[in-house]
Amino acid sequence: MCGIVGYIGNKEAFPIIINGLKRLEYRGYDSAGIALVQNGIVQYKKQGKVADLEQFSCTKNTSGSIGIGHTRWATHGEPNDVNAHPHTSMHGKFTIIHNGIIENYSSLCRQLAERGAYKCASETDTEILANLIEYVYEKEHVSAEKAVRIALSQVEGAYGLLVLCADEPDKIIAARNGSPLVIGVGNGEYFLASDATPIVEYTNRIIYLNDKEIAVISKHELSLKTLFNDTLTPIIQELDLDIECIEKAGFDHFMQKEIFEQPKSITDTFRGRASKNPPEIYLGGLYNVMDKLDKADRIIVVACGTSWHAGLVGEYAIEELARIPVEVEYASEFRYRNPIIRANDVVIAISQSGETADTLAAVRLAKNAGATVIGVCNVVGSSITRETDAGVYTHAGPEIGVASTKAFTAQVTVLTMMALFLGKRRKELATERYEELITELYNVPALIEEILLDNEKYLHVARLYKDAPNSIYLGRGILFPVALEGALKMKEISYIHAEGYPAAEMKHGPIALIDENMPVIIIATKDKSYDKVVSNIQEVKARKGKVIAVVSKGDTVIAQLADHVFEVPECDSFIAPLTTVVPLQLLSYHVAVLRACNVDQPRNLAKSVTVE
Ligand code: F6R
Repeated sequence: MCGIVGYIGNKEAFPIIINGLKRLEYRGYDSAGIALVQNGIVQYKKQGKVADLEQFSCTKNTSGSIGIGHTRWATHGEPNDVNAHPHTSMHGKFTIIHNGIIENYSSLCRQLAERGAYKCASETDTEILANLIEYVYEKEHVSAEKAVRIALSQVEGAYGLLVLCADEPDKIIAARNGSPLVIGVGNGEYFLASDATPIVEYTNRIIYLNDKEIAVISKHELSLKTLFNDTLTPIIQELDLDIECIEKAGFDHFMQKEIFEQPKSITDTFRGRASKNPPEIYLGGLYNVMDKLDKADRIIVVACGTSWHAGLVGEYAIEELARIPVEVEYASEFRYRNPIIRANDVVIAISQSGETADTLAAVRLAKNAGATVIGVCNVVGSSITRETDAGVYTHAGPEIGVASTKAFTAQVTVLTMMALFLGKRRKELATERYEELITELYNVPALIEEILLDNEKYLHVARLYKDAPNSIYLGRGILFPVALEGALKMKEISYIHAEGYPAAEMKHGPIALIDENMPVIIIATKDKSYDKVVSNIQEVKARKGKVIAVVSKGDTVIAQLADHVFEVPECDSFIAPLTTVVPLQLLSYHVAVLRACNVDQPRNLAKSVTVE
């Protein structure tokens, strides 16, 4: 949520910052701005995309080797030029960019108004912070760094913050609490950003700022402290990320690229964890919590959005294969409803970004209650990975498209491996079945390759239904979460209203919606509920609904009934979520492209939801 980039060094800052903001645009894209240290601090801001800011600035003086930039996802105040970051304090001393929310901003605003004639030009919480820093600086006659520290001690909420001070123009001050910030260390230069993607092309030496830390950075020096003024030694880590991973590589959209990458991302996710000969699962990331997992009476999954859907798939798999009770909770609900958490509970937090505010808060709540917490995250070094007791990374690679695709299948891969691993340890799973499922898991990348070959078919069906205002997605058992995920993909990128339901629930209400204009997408592969799903298809057809069915290859029964079928190779039902979701991802993708929607950056959304 909001992307932050900063540069200090000997190069021109403007192109580095603009380029970096483009890479971070998936975090927010309603307005953008940049501040550069010249003879004083200049700033340019524009509603719209980073490209609009670039265009707007091209006739202006963009020189300077120190600067900060921001791409916004609005929380306080509508997206417009005035509310765009950076924000400058009233007397012009401080210019700041901010990711997060200042929760006590109205009381800070009131206090500042009472103390002097502080007025804000924008409706943002960030401007209050700029004014507060300036107020402290002028009143206490302290350094810029100290003013920032004192001001932040009065702030409640989350922030990733970059600050320029007109009186100390040779430095950038960075601070973090709850919103991520990383620092890239170059030769006589530093790069700052919300995540490493804008930095990777310049350096692979990274410092992750922790909560309540502040860094003061000049061209040749970086000093790191806590907000309580304790000096820290910066720990430089090596970043394992290739520039190719964050380029479109010939695809039209990141989402398309990420869908087509799934054979690779799934292979990367089980590499080193699932062996084929002999079929075996090794989850090294769990070894230090193995005694807790062995004793666990219950697993609670906390997640949001697509990750929550992956958690639901995990629930079916873990309950069935390992016979451990699983509850899947929306992190946002879990954190506020005083949940019963026992010491023998194991909590699994699933998050692509590892930064989702609600999931992170749920992790903290569970840890405080004494539970063991395991992370299933994609972004290495992200907040959730650093706060959990153990974890299994999904090695999906950077996911840039806002709609999650390859992260979902990587999460499901990890959860399936966990279910198998736990099933074996708990002796709930016969060796033969365990080995059979590992072998099937190994086949998934090849099955997805085959599904991707039908791309033209998904495009054809997308053309037929692109103007439908509504759609219903149905699935049963472990494929019900896939229906939810299919519906979410459709609504978030094409803005078509879509509902996901367990197929049998249709009769309890949604069936009233079905008429000749309603596309019903049904996941109907061969498993133990197959006959029941066939009945559901007949019920839809009896009401003249249009049926698009995802079926096992060679299914002639449903081919007779449905208006369209998407065939997927036959596989075990525990593996089917990984295959059946792919046609649904591509259907949504094509519908969105045909409707001229911004596929990678759908309206109102942001990739990493670091605010509540
Ligand atoms: C949907 C989507 C979101 C995320 C959700 C959680 O396509 O991407 O629903 O799944 O915001 O994000 P993470 O997984 O980063 O915690």
